[in-house]
Amino acid sequence: EYKSLHTNTGFPAILNDRILKAAHGEEVDKIPIWIMRQAGRYLEEFRNLRVENEFFRICTTPRLACEVTLLPINLLPLDAAIIFSDILVIPQTMGMEVIMEKGKGPVFTHPLQTPEDINLLKIPDISTDYEPYLDAIFLTRHSLLGKVPLIGFCGGPFTLFTYMIEGQGSTVFTKSRRWIYQYPQETHRLLDMLTNILCDFLLAQICSGAQMLQIFESHAGILGPDEFEEFLLSYNRKIASFLKEKAKINPGLEAPLIIFCKDAGYALESICQTEFDIIQIDWTVPIPRARELANRYGKVLQGNLDPAALYASGDFIRQKATKMVETFGKEKYICNLGHGIYPDTDPEKLRVYLETVHSL
Ligand code: CP3
Repeated sequence: EYKSLHTNTGFPAILNDRILKAAHGEEVDKIPIWIMRQAGRYLEEFRNLRVENEFFRICTTPRLACEVTLLPINLLPLDAAIIFSDILVIPQTMGMEVIMEKGKGPVFTHPLQTPEDINLLKIPDISTDYEPYLDAIFLTRHSLLGKVPLIGFCGGPFTLFTYMIEGQGSTVFTKSRRWIYQYPQETHRLLDMLTNILCDFLLAQICSGAQMLQIFESHAGILGPDEFEEFLLSYNRKIASFLKEKAKINPGLEAPLIIFCKDAGYALESICQTEFDIIQIDWTVPIPRARELANRYGKVLQGNLDPAALYASGDFIRQKATKMVETFGKEKYICNLGHGIYPDTDPEKLRVYLETVHSL
């Protein structure tokens, strides 16, 4: 189907597959754990590499993206690798310029100001515009030598929409919220465009070697329940259905799907009523309620320690992690944090967290 792309065959045999087992609801020897942003700035090795290499250059240079992805795998007892990239590579391939500003994060030079600006966006071509990201996945899957599975990812349609409108991170997102009420039709048009691109991009990631996928809807918390359904969940449902349909036709393309709607505990039941296999929750969600809903709808849970808890003492982290895991239960569970690890975290504190979870 994607003629110039990889075909998801010929990779090294997997040695540690406990995360895939947990994703399928099977019994595991140890609780699998990986960490959002595990290849980030809290690692000295990453900071050193960044001195010479601009952030998005790492994302578009397969050799570098692979090297960075493997850094935490070689340092810490993690059960999965996540490909080094960023959710904002999609708007970039649609022709929007994004600059990584030191101390501020990603900034768009020309955010969308009116619905007419949508006409300036281009529809990316999978086999050319995504080549570096897909080659990075292919190379990394081989370079992992089967040590742990490789996770691919993308930003969710709604979260990408908010970045394209706001131009940068925000706490109130008034521009995006204004768009959905002032220009509902055009908002749907843009979300539809993004959804179609993400379907192809994620399928291509599986073909290139990604064994699980996570969708980051980091800005889900700014919506109310009705808008969450209309502008966020309906589009993610389409993506999940698309991928499940492809896997039905070709079982070689089966990959567990994770969804993370940050700060959307209010919508947990509707999130469980989708075709996603794994629901990532943040630390504001009560674990017993999440477990009850996950069991009712046959879902696996992922999460959810507050990344700030890694600033506590080793003893506190051990206690907190033990209580958390006991509340989740050891089955149908993948351990992670409730959001990405903070750049000033001591990697040794992360090690305490990982070792505690593996010891339970
Ligand atoms: O998890 C991993 O290790 C894989 C790599 C990864 C990055 N970004 C690398 C990165 C992943 C999965 C992301 C996802 C991402 N990117 C999200 C969703 C997750 C979330 O945090 O809610 C979002 C919102 C973005 C957009 C983005 N990229 C922001 C807001 C920032 C700035 C914040 C920060 O930590 O500086 C980035 C930059 C970024 N993405 C860095 C890394 C390692 C740091 C940039 C640098 O090295 O200068």
